[in-house]
Amino acid sequence: MKSKSKQKTSIMKIAENETHIWFTYDEEINHDFALNNYVPFLSHQELEQYQKLYFDKRKHQYLVTRMLVRNVLSRYLKGIPAEDIEFITNDHKKPYVLPEQLVLPLQFNISHTEKMIVIAVSVGIEIGIDVEYLDRNNSAFEIAERFFAENEYQYLKALPDDQQKQRFFSLWTLKEAYIKACGKGLYIPLDEFCFSYPSFNTIDINFSTYRHDDPTNWQFWQIQPSKQHLVSLAVKQSEQHPQNLIMYKTTHLLGSEVVSYPVVASKC
Ligand SMILES: CC(C)(COP(=O)(O)OP(=O)(O)OC[C@H]1O[C@@H](n2cnc3c(N)ncnc32)[C@H](O)[C@@H]1OP(=O)(O)O)[C@@H](O)C(=O)NCCC(=O)NCCS
Repeated sequence: MKSKSKQKTSIMKIAENETHIWFTYDEEINHDFALNNYVPFLSHQELEQYQKLYFDKRKHQYLVTRMLVRNVLSRYLKGIPAEDIEFITNDHKKPYVLPEQLVLPLQFNISHTEKMIVIAVSVGIEIGIDVEYLDRNNSAFEIAERFFAENEYQYLKALPDDQQKQRFFSLWTLKEAYIKACGKGLYIPLDEFCFSYPSFNTIDINFSTYRHDDPTNWQFWQIQPSKQHLVSLAVKQSEQHPQNLIMYKTTHLLGSEVVSYPVVASKC
C-alpha cells in the first residue's frame, strides 16, 4: 500500500471560449524532490512504466509529466484529488479523463521534448499540442519528402538556408498538433493535409480530397516559449466559442503564473 497524503491543489476556472496551455521546464524541478514526492502518486500501471525506463533524464521527465497532468487537471476538476484521477485512451492511445469524473467536458493533450513538457486544456473542444526542441539535428528534407504534402516539401526546398530548419519544425509541430487533435496520431497520412503561410505569421491549412475535413473547422497557434522550443496547438473550432489562448508556467506543482510567450503564427 502506498503511503501518501492527498494532494491539495488550487481551483482553476476555464471558460468555453478559452484554451489554456501549461508550460513546464522539467529540469527546474529537483530530481530528488520529484523522486521522494511524486513516485507514491503513480498508478500501478504508471509505476511499471516508470520502472522500465533506463535513463535518469527520461525517468525524471516521465515522473514530472505524470504529476503535472494529474495536478493540472485536478485544478479544473474541482474536488478530485490529483492521485484519484483515472484515464482512459481511445483506439489510437489518445488519453482522456474517465467520463464519470468529469464535472465539465474537459479535454487535454500532452507533449514533451528535451527540457519541456506542455499540456493544453479546453472545454468540450478537441485539442492537440506538440512541442519540439529546435537544437537537434534531423534529416529534415528526407522526412519532408517522404511524409509531408508535396507543396510543403517544395516550400521548404525553396526557402533560404537560414529559414529552413525553423520552418521544418513549424510544419512538423503543426502536423503533429492536428493529428493529435483528431485523436488518431499517425493513422492519418501526413500528406493528406497541407499547411502554408499566407504571410510570415499566419497559418493556413488545406485538405486533400481523401481527408474529409474543412479549414474553417480549425484554429491554430504557434508559440515560441524559448529559443530552443517551438509549440503548435490545434483546436477544433466551435462557431459559438472561438477560442482565446491563455498561457501558464509552473515550476512547482502548487503554483503557477500567467505568461505571455510570443505567438509567432496563428490561424484564428
Ligand atoms: C502521439 C503521436 C502523434 C505523437 O507522439 P510524439 O510526437 O512522439 O510525442 P508527444 O510528446 O508530442 O506526445 C505524446 C503524448 O501524446 C498523447 N497521445 C498519445 N497518443 C495520442 C493520440 N493518438 N492522439 C493524441 N494524443 C496522443 C499522450 O498523452 C502522450 O504522452 P504520454 O505518453 O506522456 O501520456 C504519435 O503518434 C507518434 O508516434 N508520433 C511520431 C512522431 C513522428 O514521427 N512525427 C512525424 C513528423 S510530422
